[in-house]
Amino acid sequence: MMIRISKLTKPLLATAFLFAGTIAFNTVSAQSSSQAKMKTFIDGLMAKMTLEEKIGQLNLVVGGEATTGSVVSTGVEDKIKKGQVGGIFSVTSPQRIRKVQELAVKNSRLKIPIIFGLDVIHGYRTIFPIPLGLAASWDMGLIQQSARVAAQEASADGLNWTFSPMVDISRDPRWGRIAESSGEDPFLGSAIARAMVKGYQGDNLAANNTLMACVKHFALYGAPEAGRDYLSVDMSHIKMYNDYFPPYKAAVDAGVGSVMSSFNDVDGIPASANKWLLTDVLRKQWGFKGLVVSDYTSVNEMIDHGLGDLKAVSALSLKAGMDMDMVGEGFLTTLKASLKEGKITQAEIDRACRNVLEAKYKLGLFEDPFRYCDDNRAQTEIFSDTHRKIARETAARSFVLLKNQGVLPLQRKGTIALVGPLADAKENMVGTWAVSADVSKATSLLAGLKAVAGSNVNIVYAKGANVADSLLEARTSIFGKPWQRDNRHPDTLIAEALRAAANADVIVAAVGELAEFTGEASSRTDITLPQSQRKLLHALNATGKPVVAVLFTGRPLAIPEEDKHLPAILNVWFGGSEAGYAIGDVLFGDVNPSGKLPATFPRNVGQVPIYYSYKNSGRPQGTDEFQKFRSGYLDERNSPLYPFGYGLSYTSFGYSDITLSSKKLKGAQKLTATITVTNTGKYAGEEVVQLYLRDLVASNTRPLKELKGFQKISLKPGESKQVSFTVTTDDLKFYDHNLKHIWEAGEFTLFMGGNSRDTKSINFWWDK
Ligand code: BGC
Repeated sequence: MMIRISKLTKPLLATAFLFAGTIAFNTVSAQSSSQAKMKTFIDGLMAKMTLEEKIGQLNLVVGGEATTGSVVSTGVEDKIKKGQVGGIFSVTSPQRIRKVQELAVKNSRLKIPIIFGLDVIHGYRTIFPIPLGLAASWDMGLIQQSARVAAQEASADGLNWTFSPMVDISRDPRWGRIAESSGEDPFLGSAIARAMVKGYQGDNLAANNTLMACVKHFALYGAPEAGRDYLSVDMSHIKMYNDYFPPYKAAVDAGVGSVMSSFNDVDGIPASANKWLLTDVLRKQWGFKGLVVSDYTSVNEMIDHGLGDLKAVSALSLKAGMDMDMVGEGFLTTLKASLKEGKITQAEIDRACRNVLEAKYKLGLFEDPFRYCDDNRAQTEIFSDTHRKIARETAARSFVLLKNQGVLPLQRKGTIALVGPLADAKENMVGTWAVSADVSKATSLLAGLKAVAGSNVNIVYAKGANVADSLLEARTSIFGKPWQRDNRHPDTLIAEALRAAANADVIVAAVGELAEFTGEASSRTDITLPQSQRKLLHALNATGKPVVAVLFTGRPLAIPEEDKHLPAILNVWFGGSEAGYAIGDVLFGDVNPSGKLPATFPRNVGQVPIYYSYKNSGRPQGTDEFQKFRSGYLDERNSPLYPFGYGLSYTSFGYSDITLSSKKLKGAQKLTATITVTNTGKYAGEEVVQLYLRDLVASNTRPLKELKGFQKISLKPGESKQVSFTVTTDDLKFYDHNLKHIWEAGEFTLFMGGNSRDTKSINFWWDK
């Protein structure tokens, strides 16, 4: 999809292209000369390295502040001095990093600097919404900015590498790591992948305020069987190429510096030893030139996958294209013997070593190993007022209004009963994978709402219920975020909540998931609200007062009952350190919600996997009503509760019919599709205008709809805007059964609307 160029800007652009031609030529030659310089430098260095030192560079150890496996690194100091460590993650602060770097550049024989990584996933200390929430903003500028802020803060704290973005497509809300993803769609996911890489890396990896990004988890990690983390993935190549690969490729095309392999197997071979994946697809087909790192002990875990002992799996992994081994030390301890036995080659070790050294070179570490160790930057650049303000705005724009029967926005008067286990829970606000967050600095909804409400509003609070039963709560308490239970009887808690609600004009119920209900190893088979909270909501609703549910979640939840009975539901994901204020901003209407779902919300977990871009069966139901011998369920409708792309606003938007520049196109022509969107309500608001295509007749079965463009626009009450998209034959392309990226002539349907379900449509023909 291309941005439309108006007539006026065209001559200017032509001149710009002329200059761009010279600039492009200069850039290419500058690039090749810097490539040549890098090669000469690394050739020289590698000529001095022993086999042990080369293998040492392939070793990535964990510093111990955060671990995600049962294995941790030991004897690190000694190994650094011996040149047996290429990188470290989870050590932070310029002082500590300086100390570790000194060990390497003063005590090891060749003084090769270490690369310092961390899981900077959605912010460093200033925490942004979880990635699924960020995706719901559909705002690439905001998403890029969030990565920029994260890079600024993390690099000010001495780091130069982040294990992000995670771009695994997921269509299974049982899988806990859907929270870290951009949801179900490859087009949206690819746009986000590009924005994140640009945000982290900027234009210059060697600048002291950028981080090298690491796109993960390559590949297909978001599609494990039964939604159970780490489990096997079995998928056709057509599906991989069309639906699951695009975001990884987008990150590669955007110049991502590193790629992390995934834990799962792909087509019968674990990703960490999958040569087809790591070499044929990644390097040969996509031209990736950077560093490939394993996931946490994923090399060793291939023993449990049944691929052999540590020596065998390490050799397989290196041969497949792995450069760096995270934590497991299979490379460090076995590659030398494998080389002797002829199981691997010197060239394979050299390739991996070169890729690690090149990453360090690009980060500028050979020039100055302490480039990121500025003792002063952290004081002013981390958790600054500016960053917190950006995080608050970003959070507010990630929330999705799922239902509103005239209750929201709240008025700044009267009494609000704020009830629920997540109302006064600042440690829960940041969400999963925020290892560097200082949760004590996050703002709870209670504190945020009070601050935003001002003095005319009386807010009374009661907990009302525990989040869930104690076993589920206990299982989800990691990374120093213990959960406080209220051990009083559930009825006592509800009675207290009802007392708080007795004099209120409106009840705001803060319900949903604990942060660690999602994230790694946090799959669920039941994606409804826990029973304790459903009972509370039922009791609150029975008061007859309007109940606004503020829903905290890291995954699509199945909430048909809540949708049926409650007048308003605002989905706030886990909005980060400033979310308490941001929720207040939206509840009181200072910010009009504009988020749209990046993943379908099912009615029932039995519908999973559920996503909008499915293919027709030969017996489609056509309607949502059950019909015998048609594709459907006896006990549930086919349609989701809330479709992909869905989200309400305090205002309403009207869509005109679509006009096309032509209904018959040929070859390289371009199609312009235009629609007029009008704000038909009382509030200024933003709308995400979405464009979908369907290929009506093709040589392969094609999805019923595929997102091919979106624009976020803002409209004042009564205002109309024309929104245009340019469609080219690139947008018609798909990978066919031969994995050729082709488009086929024929008839297409183009849809436009504010979500994937409610759209206007028009057909056109495109000939070769
Ligand atoms: C996760 C990765 C993460 C790594 C390092 C693993 O368990 O799967 O996403 O980057 O740990 O913390």
